[in-house]
Amino acid sequence: MATCIRQLTQERPWISRLLTAYGIDTNRPGPLPENPELHLHLRQIWNGPEGLRQLTPNELLDYIVHCHHRYLRKVLPQLIEQARTLNHPVLSELQALSQESKPHMFREEMEVFPAIREIYRENRPASHLPRWIARLDREHEQAFQRFLRIRQAMSETPSATFELKAALEALDEDMRWHMFAENELLFARILRSAS
Ligand SMILES: [Fe+2]
Ligand SMILES: [Fe+2]
Repeated sequence: MATCIRQLTQERPWISRLLTAYGIDTNRPGPLPENPELHLHLRQIWNGPEGLRQLTPNELLDYIVHCHHRYLRKVLPQLIEQARTLNHPVLSELQALSQESKPHMFREEMEVFPAIREIYRENRPASHLPRWIARLDREHEQAFQRFLRIRQAMSETPSATFELKAALEALDEDMRWHMFAENELLFARILRSAS
C-alpha cells in the first residue's frame, strides 16, 4: 500500500474523502499518519465500494460511522459557507440537507445501528427494525431528491467556483457510497432476515 498521501489520492481519488473524514489534508505530500483505524478502512475500500460487500455487519457499521458520517459532518458546514459567500442557489438545499441529516445520523448511531449490532450479537430477529428502516429509507429518498436539485442548480448556475464544484461532486459521490452501504448492503440484509 502506498503511504504517500499525494500518490495515494492520485491513484485512488475516492480515498481523499476518507482522509478528509479523518481531518487529513489531502494535498499534503507527506506520509499517512499511523492510525490503525484509518488503515483498516483504507484496506476495506482499497479497490472501491465493492470491497464493502466483504465486511461483516459490525465492520460495515463502523465503516459508515467513521467514514461517511464523519465526512458529512466535516464537509457540509464548509460547503454551506462557500455557497453563502457566492450567494449560490445550492445554499438552501445544502442548509436543508444539513438540517435533515443531523437527526437522521443521530438516530442511526444511537438507535438503529446499536439495535442491528444486538441482532447479530444475540442472533435473534428484531420486529421493530423494519419500521425504523422504512423511515430511514424515506429520508434517504428525500436526500436523493435534494442531490438531484443540487446537480440541477449546478448545471443551471455557472457562478460556482472550481472549489465548490469539486467539493459538491465529492459529496455527491460520497452520498452514493453511503446509500449503497446502508440500503443495499446493511438494510437489505436485515430485511431479508426479518421476513
Ligand atoms: Fe448514514
Ligand atoms: Fe442513512
